[in-house]
Amino acid sequence: MHDPHADHILVIDFGSQYTQLIARNIREAGVYCEIYPFDAPMQAINEFKARGIILSGGPESVTTEETPRAYHAIFEQGVPVLGICYGMQTMAAQLGGAVENSDHKEYGHAMINLHGHCDLFTGIEADSIDVWMSHGDRVSAIPEGFSVVGESKNAPLAAFADVSRHFYGIQFHPEVTHTREGKQIISNFVHGICGCAREWVPANIIQQSIENMRAQVGKDEVILGLSGGVDSSVVAALLHEAIGEKLTCIFVDNGLLRLDEGDQVMQVFAENLGVTVVRVDAEEEFLGALKGESDPEIKRKIIGNKFIEIFEREARKLDNARWLAQGTIYPDVIESAGNKLGKAKVIKSHHNVGGLPDDMELGLIEPLRELFKDEVRRLGVELGLPAKMINRHPFPGPGLGVRILGEVKKEFADILRQADAIYLEELYRNDLYDSISQAFAVFLPVKSVGVVGDNRAYEYVIALRAVETIDFMTASWSHIPYDVLGTISNRIINEVRGVSRVAYDISGKPPATIEWE
Ligand code: XMP
Repeated sequence: MHDPHADHILVIDFGSQYTQLIARNIREAGVYCEIYPFDAPMQAINEFKARGIILSGGPESVTTEETPRAYHAIFEQGVPVLGICYGMQTMAAQLGGAVENSDHKEYGHAMINLHGHCDLFTGIEADSIDVWMSHGDRVSAIPEGFSVVGESKNAPLAAFADVSRHFYGIQFHPEVTHTREGKQIISNFVHGICGCAREWVPANIIQQSIENMRAQVGKDEVILGLSGGVDSSVVAALLHEAIGEKLTCIFVDNGLLRLDEGDQVMQVFAENLGVTVVRVDAEEEFLGALKGESDPEIKRKIIGNKFIEIFEREARKLDNARWLAQGTIYPDVIESAGNKLGKAKVIKSHHNVGGLPDDMELGLIEPLRELFKDEVRRLGVELGLPAKMINRHPFPGPGLGVRILGEVKKEFADILRQADAIYLEELYRNDLYDSISQAFAVFLPVKSVGVVGDNRAYEYVIALRAVETIDFMTASWSHIPYDVLGTISNRIINEVRGVSRVAYDISGKPPATIEWE
């Protein structure tokens, strides 16, 4: 999607947990960049034609011989290089300096005193800045030609620079929000030092993407599985801009969607945007297939397989389609490609369209392959999709199928949909939705005693889940104010028939997962 003639930065990955954050920060500064593993072929690095290279942090120690190094050729390309943490240490060691194992490890907040007027720190007024550190080793001697431009208590050589060659090393992490001037430092490197223009902005990305897609598909027709989630929605809006009625979306309503979700998808895409959407009402088929099954993994498989079956059946009706569009995004590519340099094609498992038979011979079109999630959202806004759709919490592919514990029945799905809608409505009303990473209701197929009105009731239980998380790998439960929880509980018990008790889930992940199944 990116314009090959525009300015690019390359991030060489040594395995830091923050590498993607470096790339996101550069993109946010309006400059396209990609992440290559440290052992990507040098030829690929040359062909990328970066205007600057960043060496990321990493978990290894430069003091051990077998650990990763940057290709020496990287320092001979005549482009600026910025080493961060491990990247700084390997740069020091490779260019003639030294690195030692230090007893003074630094993790977390630290202060760096800045020396001199290094162009990496342009625009920073303070003499010292708050930074985020995460290192055991430290540079003990800087290479020839370099000078020290920053020191911390435990790392006297915390930042160095050879301004004439445009080589810089910093021990701290500018990509982490705890580093106060981190964005300024990254901007100084990519704009001031590397001279990259701010070209990577939504309007340009969309324009370039549209041109590329038009060139790729020509006059052919394209199919897209629309789920209502952010990624497939943005793909739909982009493709519609690019090829109009040559795009057909297939939207499978599996009966396990949230309240009115199917109608909303149709309203946004079919009515407002004029996208061709085939809505397949498959509730009975899904519920029929799930009948009697209560094992969560088998339920997931049944839902996934059913989806493929129906999608394939509908896709076959579109004789002229030659392409299948997918909402694969950059983190999917990096994570699944590992050291293969992002060339592996990924099929998003929760879209479940990986099973299209070979005889359909559809080419794959993935317009979001180079984008991070926040960029996808920005594109969505620029393309005019409703903010509420763009900022929605993630929703699992199997939908309410994994939020109804045990066997899935229509009666249970209907109760859960109503309870969930009240819960989310109150979170929006109290301005809590956007600060929570994921919130939803869960249906428990057990009955509990309650008094509803004057009568003793013996009805089902609804559990409410809300978590805060960065990466969904670990999560903490949200501290929703008691009075809001009280209102939600009252409303669910009063308004949803069949529920007599509401519980709030106060389990962290780990050990509990975010979903209940
Ligand atoms: P867990 O429950 O594993 O969830 O803590 C982590 C994130 O993944 C989502 N999730 C799924 N998404 N298909 C999906 O597409 C699934 O089967 C599935 N299970 C969990 C979950 O909603 C959360 O965001």
